[in-house]
Amino acid sequence: MGKAIVITGTPGTGKTSVARALAKLLGVKHIDLSSYAIEKGFITEYDAERHTYVIDEERLVKKIVMIIKNTPGYVIIDTHYPEIIPCELIEYVFVLRTHPRVLEERLRNKGWPDRKVKENVMAEILSVVLSNILNACSNVEVYEIDTTNRDPVEVAEEILGIIKGVKKPSSRIKIDWLSALSQEDIAYYESYGESVSNE
Ligand SMILES: Nc1ncnc2c1ncn2[C@@H]1O[C@H](COP(=O)(O)OP(=O)(O)O)[C@@H](O)[C@H]1O
Ligand SMILES: [Mg+2]
Repeated sequence: MGKAIVITGTPGTGKTSVARALAKLLGVKHIDLSSYAIEKGFITEYDAERHTYVIDEERLVKKIVMIIKNTPGYVIIDTHYPEIIPCELIEYVFVLRTHPRVLEERLRNKGWPDRKVKENVMAEILSVVLSNILNACSNVEVYEIDTTNRDPVEVAEEILGIIKGVKKPSSRIKIDWLSALSQEDIAYYESYGESVSNE
């Protein structure tokens, strides 16, 4: 039976870029849950207002559980809703974090509408994805990795170091954007919404 290495974080923090690089370094399979669900038709409807597909979680999870169980070794799962993976199948969770100002620029570069950009930046400020996985799986090893101003390959190498036991970070949970933001930043973000929206 295999185990999942979960690469998670707010959309735009670099999950897919890092998961791809890590999959190459480890020589294992990488599944981008959002793309996979759309590709395989694990969706219930298209939400025209939000410009996103609504994922059929139940069917998707069944399939992913089967893939993890039938794969010898690791499967890298790339998702912003890690809490849907059964905890006992997870070996590590890496929560990618990006400074809100940099994240906003990355999301605007994706051409996303203003509301979706703001919702996700606010979710990053409030550590929504981190809280969700910590609440769902209290016994799993969770590490935060800052990807701000870093190259995805560099981030993948840092993760590899942790997995191989070469490098253990001084602290696993360390990001607090609320404390890091200036008063000016906080005033700027005050009008933002706070749910994580789909990719
Ligand atoms: N470490 C990084 N440094 C700079 N830009 C990055 C980094 N990681 C990703 N990006 C860029 O940010 C955007 C979002 O990356 P992506 O891997 O698609 O994130 P996610 O899968 O979390 O939504 C892409 O345009 C990508 O090129
Ligand atoms: Mg992605």
